[in-house]
Amino acid sequence: MAQHLSTENRGGVLRVTLNRPDVRNAFNEELINELVATFDVAASDDAVRCVILAGAGKVFCAGADLAWMKSMVTFGEEANAAGARRLAGLFEAVDRCPKPVIGRIHGAAMGGGVGLVACCDIPVATEATFFAFSEVRLGLAPAVISPFVIRKIGVGAARELFVTGQRVPAERARTLGLVNHVVADEAALDEKVESLAKAILAGAPGAVAACKHLAMTVGDLDGETATAETAALIARLRAGAEGQEGMRAFLTRTPPAWTQPKNSGGEA
Ligand code: COA
Repeated sequence: MAQHLSTENRGGVLRVTLNRPDVRNAFNEELINELVATFDVAASDDAVRCVILAGAGKVFCAGADLAWMKSMVTFGEEANAAGARRLAGLFEAVDRCPKPVIGRIHGAAMGGGVGLVACCDIPVATEATFFAFSEVRLGLAPAVISPFVIRKIGVGAARELFVTGQRVPAERARTLGLVNHVVADEAALDEKVESLAKAILAGAPGAVAACKHLAMTVGDLDGETATAETAALIARLRAGAEGQEGMRAFLTRTPPAWTQPKNSGGEA
């Protein structure tokens, strides 16, 4: 059972809440392992159709636990590198989860917390939230998160934000592409993330996973490969069970099977 994390599945929407509010949800080794395990299970569990990633208490996430990071000086070089790779594994697990991940971002996201935001498919923040790559002020660098962050905000913004460590208000984070939506307050935040989850549940589960993969990868393919792969994808989907069911449902004006969710409720 997770110590630093709470999870709850409501009708196919898995809410994952970082739960170390006393240290502003900073992640240590245990929290990293718990998050990776939770996302690994969610990836292959048909009862999970989308994930909401949230933080308990005052802020979403203050990044890596600095007490844990500091203690790494006593680790050997190899153990230190292994720890960094486990951290990278966390961002990969969130990023590559085939179920869409909605970020419920409030208060602050700093360092690795911004990395988590960058790995969400649909991060939504309150307007009072700020973001910062504070690593530089700690004598560190946003190393492991940088590929995920730069993919969202680009090199130009990263060069400024990584070297200054300055706080970025939510509205600027939105214009940079770090978050998709900014809302007034936490009540509006809950409303927005729930409505996004509802929209995802209206999609066919296999098609949702295919759409996430498509959006993440097609831009990196050269023209010929893109044509071949996208043609193969649509051919597979339209002949597949979900495509056939979705088109049947539309043509007969009846709801498709996947909009009748099986209830798998319960807390973990
Ligand atoms: N690692 C470990 N502990 C942390 C932490 C982190 N990343 N961030 C906060 N904490 C701890 C503080 O040490 C403090 O502990 P204490 O109560 O024993 O003194 C507690 O969490 C509350 O922090 P505080 O700064 O008082 O909270 P706040 O609500 O006023 O501010 C932040 C919240 C996130 C703005 C602030 O805690 C902060 O700047 N944290 C550092 C974040 C950072 O630089 N992360 C980059 C990591 S590479």
